[in-house]
Amino acid sequence: MPMKKSRFAAFFLCLLLCAPCEVALAAQEPEAPVLRQYTAELTALTSSKYYWDDDTQRYLDYKVLHPDASWVSVITNVNIGLDHDFYTDTVSAINIGSTNVLVNKYHALPKTYVPKGLETINAKYSVGTQKLTRSARLAFEKMCADAKKLGYKIFATSSYRSYDKQAAVYDSFYTPDDPTVQDRLAARPGYSEHQTGLAVDVIRSSTALTNTSTYKWYVKNAYKYGFIIRYPDGKESVTGYSFEPWHLRYVGVKLATAVFKSGLTFDEYYAQEIALPVKSGVVKAVGLTVTAQISVAGLITQLSTIEVNGNTYFKLRDIAALLNKTSLQFDVAWDPAAQKIVLLKGSPYTGDPTITVVDANKTALVTSSIPALALGDVISPASAINTGGTTYVTLPDLAALLGFTYMIDEGGVIYLSGV
Ligand code: DAL
Ligand code: ZN
Repeated sequence: MPMKKSRFAAFFLCLLLCAPCEVALAAQEPEAPVLRQYTAELTALTSSKYYWDDDTQRYLDYKVLHPDASWVSVITNVNIGLDHDFYTDTVSAINIGSTNVLVNKYHALPKTYVPKGLETINAKYSVGTQKLTRSARLAFEKMCADAKKLGYKIFATSSYRSYDKQAAVYDSFYTPDDPTVQDRLAARPGYSEHQTGLAVDVIRSSTALTNTSTYKWYVKNAYKYGFIIRYPDGKESVTGYSFEPWHLRYVGVKLATAVFKSGLTFDEYYAQEIALPVKSGVVKAVGLTVTAQISVAGLITQLSTIEVNGNTYFKLRDIAALLNKTSLQFDVAWDPAAQKIVLLKGSPYTGDPTITVVDANKTALVTSSIPALALGDVISPASAINTGGTTYVTLPDLAALLGFTYMIDEGGVIYLSGV
């Protein structure tokens, strides 16, 4: 939509003076300022050791739903899987067969899995026949023996449980009046730590356990033997289980000490310290997709742009497709020897002419593209970014390189002149 000449001039002047971030303001959604703030905050976190690049959009979505949650909680919870309901998007347990295996409501053991080297716990410290894997059994017996010397009594009441046994346990917790109770108290078969041979319940009843001197002792000392309280009080939203003061999980002394000192649940600790992405060292930022309208020779086309750190970046190939068959036509080529993207001014664009528009207000993880661009042999100081293998540049940079000018009307439509 053309605008009055005086306004047009004013906008043109404004464009010369303003930062490139003004370019796509018209595409703002009501929540865009908040989303911009979130993407800037996420950018500052991309180098943290437990930031998974591929989960950027999930982090943003979770933060939108939980604005009061700290970013550490947001990232940790998404890494755990808590942005999905329990028992959805489940995958295989991590490090099966290791003492640090992660089994929870998102990580399952195979139905046929039976740990190697199950051994029977000394009858002095168990109710009935109870089994654990060797290192867990030895540590458990040592803890029980030391506790006994101090006058405390620790007994294994339930330890290794096969898949079928766990199915029976789970069924036994079915409560017709409130079917949600079952999942808070017992794991579904395949999702129980008891199937690992590394978990041991040390008392049958919960009611008075936390008041006993035995509990008070092992809650402070179990880690020294390699055990953690796996389902702590107040952490049901993370573990999916109500407080189980009796459920001890063997992870080895080193890891148990670290988990104990962190004050985190095992799930949180895993998400922050164990299941970590491989870091490339490449500098990254989180951008926000914004739709822009651009008018070339009287035809308005909708494009996707990405806002990063206040700058608006356009897809280089969209602009090339758009300007093809105009006096500003240029082709984009890759110079593998020089590792440069070269713009060939005056050549028709030979790439894919399709222009695809991405949904607005989505995150895009971007990296800087180095070196940026070259016009023929001249390397431009323009900064380009890359996301999903696509190069994006700012309009002012491209205008300077290719020799066009542009302006924006009140409706946010960008008009290219000199075409
Ligand atoms: N009660 C614990 C969560 C289990 O069934 O494994
Ligand atoms: Zn248990």
